[in-house]
Amino acid sequence: MPLQIIVGTQWGDEGKGRIVDWFAANSDIVARYNGGDNAGHSVTVGSKLFKLHLIPSGIIHPKPVAVLGNGMVINPRSLLDEIEMLHKAGIQVNPDRLRISHAAHLITPAHQALDKAQEAARGKGSIGTTGRGIGPAYTDKASRRGLRMADLLSADFFEHLSVLVDDANQQLGLLGAPQINLINIIEAYQHFRKMLLPYIADTSLEVCSAMAAGQRVLAEGAQGTLLDIDHGTYPFVTSSTTIASGVFPGLGIGISAANDAEVSGVCKSFQTRVGSGPFPTEVFDELALRLRGTGENPWDEYGTTTGRARRVGWLDGVLLRYAVRINGLTELVITKLDILSGIETLKLCIAYRKGGKTISDLPFGPSNLEDYEPVYQELPGWLEDVSAIRQWADLPQAAKDYLDSIARLAGVPVRLVSVGPERNQIVSNS
Ligand code: GDP
Ligand code: IMO
Ligand code: MG
Repeated sequence: MPLQIIVGTQWGDEGKGRIVDWFAANSDIVARYNGGDNAGHSVTVGSKLFKLHLIPSGIIHPKPVAVLGNGMVINPRSLLDEIEMLHKAGIQVNPDRLRISHAAHLITPAHQALDKAQEAARGKGSIGTTGRGIGPAYTDKASRRGLRMADLLSADFFEHLSVLVDDANQQLGLLGAPQINLINIIEAYQHFRKMLLPYIADTSLEVCSAMAAGQRVLAEGAQGTLLDIDHGTYPFVTSSTTIASGVFPGLGIGISAANDAEVSGVCKSFQTRVGSGPFPTEVFDELALRLRGTGENPWDEYGTTTGRARRVGWLDGVLLRYAVRINGLTELVITKLDILSGIETLKLCIAYRKGGKTISDLPFGPSNLEDYEPVYQELPGWLEDVSAIRQWADLPQAAKDYLDSIARLAGVPVRLVSVGPERNQIVSNS
């Protein structure tokens, strides 16, 4: 299978990074196709915890080439910090191992300042963005005035940058937010230009050529299905196409590659969300603390990018089935099964109820979820610690029953289950 797509089935943070790391061992290219440093993908290898925001999680393996696709919005400062972090951890990132699309868009401090000022202006209706400038950068892209990686090569780059910064200052003025300093931005970009030029490439050509030569490409989705700009819980979404089909425009791959692609949906064994927006199966109080953790462990439910406490709840099977359809998933990977150990009774949302009617498909997608009440199936939990288990047969019967119920509800098989954050804490269903 030359193309495998890894995508989140929920509101992000499903554990995509560690699952990409698992599959990357057998991949030639690992490529991001959407988003920017709003993503935070954790990979734990022994005592080392890597938190990646822009560079695909496959970089930790020695073989795969990492690609930042044209569908991304890239903050050069974050990228250089990440390259530095990897160097310090003994992972060499050079232009042979990292390729950046000439058509990926640049995030500047103007975008970050606008993101924060727009959020402040929304007041109670704020989206809870990561403040990384993602929305404003995609706005410039859609307005056809954004700066792209290849523009770093052009003679009038700084003129173009100045116009965008002046314009942002006008908008910031209207929003009552502080102005940003053009001179500082120009100085920073002179440095970024020098550092990044060797990495810029026609990544579409490189990825397609690799696939034509039979190499394996692993596409790493950022965010999750329910944060997709079209198919998510709009307007509480991010500004990019997060779903699997975003791979084709986001990497510049022809659609025929979809024919035999594997599309793996990563799904946490419960539900989480960071930021505002509807969440029908959300839980509070003691149970929430039980699922979220106190923050003592690195895997507790606190954002990898912003450190914010994640909202938590029971697994929502209606939304999972929706994710299977919208992405064309061929299989599921369930993460954090270990966190459910010791909960006496588990709840799985199998339908919604509204106005006395029970429904299993949303009439207008997931935007008006606040109108629906979840219908739960209760399943017995298990007491055993599962984190040392590596064989499917050794999982407690109640855990296997829970996984079977998820697969039945979703209509696709569960291929892998993770039982801890460490690279090898994976149980394969085969
Ligand atoms: P991503 O954005 O989808 O890559 O997910 P994040 O890295 O933001 O969040 C997932 C968190 O769960 C990270 O802290 C992971 O180390 C952790 N994690 C992933 N899989 C497991 C698992 O099976 N068990 C436990 N306990 N933690 C896990
Ligand atoms: P990964 O790849 C979880 C959320 C933000 C906010 C909304 C819009 O780690 O799964 P943005 O800054 O993108 O304009 O914010 O989307 N969000 C994420 N939530 N995981 C992510 O990425 C996210 N990226 C954005 O919290 O609600
Ligand atoms: Mg994350």
